[in-house]
Amino acid sequence: MSTAKIGIVTVSDRASRGEYEDRGGPAIQATLDDYLTSPWEPVARVIPDERAEIEATLCALVDDVGCCLVVTTGGTGPSARDVTPEATEAVCDRMMPGFGELMRAISLQVVPTAILSRQTAGLRGSSLLINLPGKPSAIRECLDAVFPAVPYCIDLMNGPRLETDPAVLQAFRPKGK
Ligand code: MTE
Repeated sequence: MSTAKIGIVTVSDRASRGEYEDRGGPAIQATLDDYLTSPWEPVARVIPDERAEIEATLCALVDDVGCCLVVTTGGTGPSARDVTPEATEAVCDRMMPGFGELMRAISLQVVPTAILSRQTAGLRGSSLLINLPGKPSAIRECLDAVFPAVPYCIDLMNGPRLETDPAVLQAFRPKGK
């Protein structure tokens, strides 16, 4: 079975300057470690809220590193420096609006400010890019909601087959797939 490379991108001015410890990236890695039983390799980056740098990082992870999935955390809100969704959309060929819709709906059950996140998802080549909010607690909430559809999405783009531990997260594939 081929090892799936998964990009984990923390977008934060302060974390990238070392002013505080990155907690989002490790939280994504721990969540994926919990879900996945098939071999995978994290490729982590911590970068500032600079649109050009976000776009370049996403492109490099997909085009050069060969990640089938890239998950970002941070920079999705309404502050002036929050530009992760714009950078994501700029590098994607097609958007997957259902991801943002579902993540906001689920998060709204936890916090009324969930609607402040402009988090989105899209496809670049045969890779899926997903934005998560910067709050570490949002990571598990959002991924638990959307991840059941992620392995089949990657199958449809002829990516590596991701298997999950059904006791932790049941991935959905149509019968016989
Ligand atoms: N979603 C979840 N699940 N939990 C949260 O605490 N915080 C919200 C929202 N979505 C939050 C959430 C808040 S307060 C903001 S401002 C936006 O995400 C954007 O966060 P970001 O700019 O760190 O990405």
